[in-house]
Amino acid sequence: MHESEAPPVSDAPPPSPVAEPAPATVPPAVTSGVGTPVVLLHAFPLDGRMWAPQVEALAGSYQVIVPDLRGFGAAREQAVEEAGMDLLADDVARLLDDRGLDRVVLGGLSMGGYVAFAFVRRHADRLGGLLLLDTKASADSEQARADRLRMAERVLAEGTGFVPETMLPRLLGKTSLEERPELVEQVTALVREQDPLAVAGAQRGMAARPDATDVLAAIAVPTLVVAGEEDAVIGPEVGRELAVAIPGARFLLVERAGHLASLERPEVVNEALLDFLAPIWV
Ligand code: MLT
Repeated sequence: MHESEAPPVSDAPPPSPVAEPAPATVPPAVTSGVGTPVVLLHAFPLDGRMWAPQVEALAGSYQVIVPDLRGFGAAREQAVEEAGMDLLADDVARLLDDRGLDRVVLGGLSMGGYVAFAFVRRHADRLGGLLLLDTKASADSEQARADRLRMAERVLAEGTGFVPETMLPRLLGKTSLEERPELVEQVTALVREQDPLAVAGAQRGMAARPDATDVLAAIAVPTLVVAGEEDAVIGPEVGRELAVAIPGARFLLVERAGHLASLERPEVVNEALLDFLAPIWV
């Protein structure tokens, strides 16, 4: 009779659990109009509804596609612990696959722009043009990263009630804050509606994003950079530098507008978008 052998004893720590990869999903998106496809990626912590003035202006001539990114708006069920920019860019690519679109004009405001830079790195062949609004290519400072992670923890503990108060003074420009109470109310409501999981996931994803300055010189499609003169989050001079770093990029400074320039001065931004898009055919 054999004595049963005791399993070998190991001093090694048990393997740490491997995080489940985020499921590959297609983001929910609203499509309006027909023509050259233009995909618009929203800012943080908002959703696709922030593009309503652009949808109205462009849908007569373009197929305007406005997704909600992981966890935001109609994508509530798709929230993940860390919504990295690469993951979000791949979501956009899956959306294009789903719609049978090889190439599009891609636009993003702020966080949407960070996603656009990841898209440039990973799916450049699918770009026919680029719109970069109130965004930057650099990564966060250590302090900014720590602030994001702190907000992620707080929003999960407390919900989004405190978020508008923290963010509104920076999301809207001085002029809008002073003169546009209805816009302040609209943006406050949009922020308050977002799911804490979405806010936390996006903050962690943005905190982890790499510097994208290295992709700028290789951007080979028509590009328009837009900056709000009163943008307290990014700063208009950053937009100007971004346009200088991208070969042939155009630059528009929107006066009397802050970080959400497309919502604050839609008439100015829409005119520039229509002018920019006119010669582009994808
Ligand atoms: C945004 O508008 O998307 C955010 O302000 C971006 C950021 O927090 O860096």
